[in-house]
Amino acid sequence: MDYPSITLRNIKEPDSHKINTYLKSGGYKGLTRVLDDMVPEEVIGSIKRSGLRGRGGASFPTGLKWEFARRDRNFPKYIVCNADEGEPGTFKDRILIEKDPFAIIEGMTIAGFSVGAEKGYIYIRGEYVKGAEILRKAIKEAKEKNFLGKNIQGKDFNFDLDVYMGAGSYICGEETALIESLEGNVGYSRIKPPFPINVGLWDKPTVLNNVETFSLVAPIIVNGDEWFSNIGARDFPGTMIYSLSGHVNKPGLYELPTGINLKTIIYEFGGGIKDGKKLKAVFPGGLSSGCLNENEIDIPMDHKALAKVGSMLGSGAIIVINDETCMVEIARRGMKFFRHESCGKCVPCREGTFWISKIMLRIVNGEGKKEDLDLIKDLGQGMKTAAFCGLGLAAANPVLSIIKNFPKDFESHINDKKCAYNNK
Ligand SMILES: Cc1cc2nc3c(=O)[nH]c(=O)nc-3n(C[C@H](O)[C@H](O)[C@H](O)COP(=O)(O)O)c2cc1C
Ligand code: SF4
Repeated sequence: MDYPSITLRNIKEPDSHKINTYLKSGGYKGLTRVLDDMVPEEVIGSIKRSGLRGRGGASFPTGLKWEFARRDRNFPKYIVCNADEGEPGTFKDRILIEKDPFAIIEGMTIAGFSVGAEKGYIYIRGEYVKGAEILRKAIKEAKEKNFLGKNIQGKDFNFDLDVYMGAGSYICGEETALIESLEGNVGYSRIKPPFPINVGLWDKPTVLNNVETFSLVAPIIVNGDEWFSNIGARDFPGTMIYSLSGHVNKPGLYELPTGINLKTIIYEFGGGIKDGKKLKAVFPGGLSSGCLNENEIDIPMDHKALAKVGSMLGSGAIIVINDETCMVEIARRGMKFFRHESCGKCVPCREGTFWISKIMLRIVNGEGKKEDLDLIKDLGQGMKTAAFCGLGLAAANPVLSIIKNFPKDFESHINDKKCAYNNK
């Protein structure tokens, strides 16, 4: 079956990151239409009708976000692109940045026009040095052709962009920590509400969206909101780039309709489990989503369906694990990551990640006790209810879902004092 390719449609073109290639493939038709024929409210109406939801993890309706920012009469306003891409398992934004930077820039410019912002920032993770360089060159080219700058395409609309590099911190992908970092402060999350849409960068209204979200904007304007809303799942339409990794034959990026079956992605697109082994577990939305067992994967990649089984769609990062893997070791490594990345501002997350990490190490080393599992559950539940931001709210998901789905792996570590898989 042929599926529409929207965000990845240009990436195989030679020099796809240059403005002339972008223009030849229909680039900037969206912005031109917006500037020639539409008022901001019409653009926002179209994005709302399209049903576009953010692709960065929280699945919030994009048009609604833009509408809130439009209505706010506090100026100046800002547009921020979240290119921090820190969730373990996610690697989709990098390809969009390196191969189709103008799609992101065009989407941000349309957002600027829609909400009344004249300035935008692309916050890119520090490791994406090549991506940052490509973006900077793209911004320069866009300015030369007057797609950025003053009086864009002769209209009464100014919009400019800058690239800002992060310094390798996962928490700086969380929108309020990102804004703190962009302001030059330590990346601590802010308490919400107020939300960045009203009190964001330098306390001004700020539209913050993910790279993929911005890349979908111009195609929606060009092809129509109805076209987009008819692709994929009804209440989460369009395509999504799934980052498929782990023990599959064909790992990679797959742009497929939202709501597509997870099993189909793994077996039909990913070619099944590597080396003829069997599937054991899947994280459908990155490390911080709870994992599913082999009986749960016949499920649509839809935020509601995944929430029902205690997991999350997140940014569509599917991590596949075979049946020769010790899930206790996966839980230990996952918690070590979150402990390292916790900013330490609030007690449930700072202490929870610290203590669960310690207990996991004890279990892996054959020194665990049966009661440890209840202790982990208590600590994890405390984090899920009382942590200050999304990092702490989700950090216990891997370990809690592994305890639920794979109790036998824990039993061999705790009762037999050894790993049934030799830590393979
Ligand atoms: C710990 C943490 C890390 C996050 N990292 C990212 C990230 O790297 N990229 C991203 O787009 N969103 C990330 N998010 C989600 C953002 O806070 C925000 O919801 C998103 O960027 C909004 O854009 P969207 O509406 O287009 O999805 C993260 C959230 C949390 C809690
Ligand atoms: S939940 Fe974790 S990352 Fe978020 S503010 Fe608290 S300590 Fe920091």
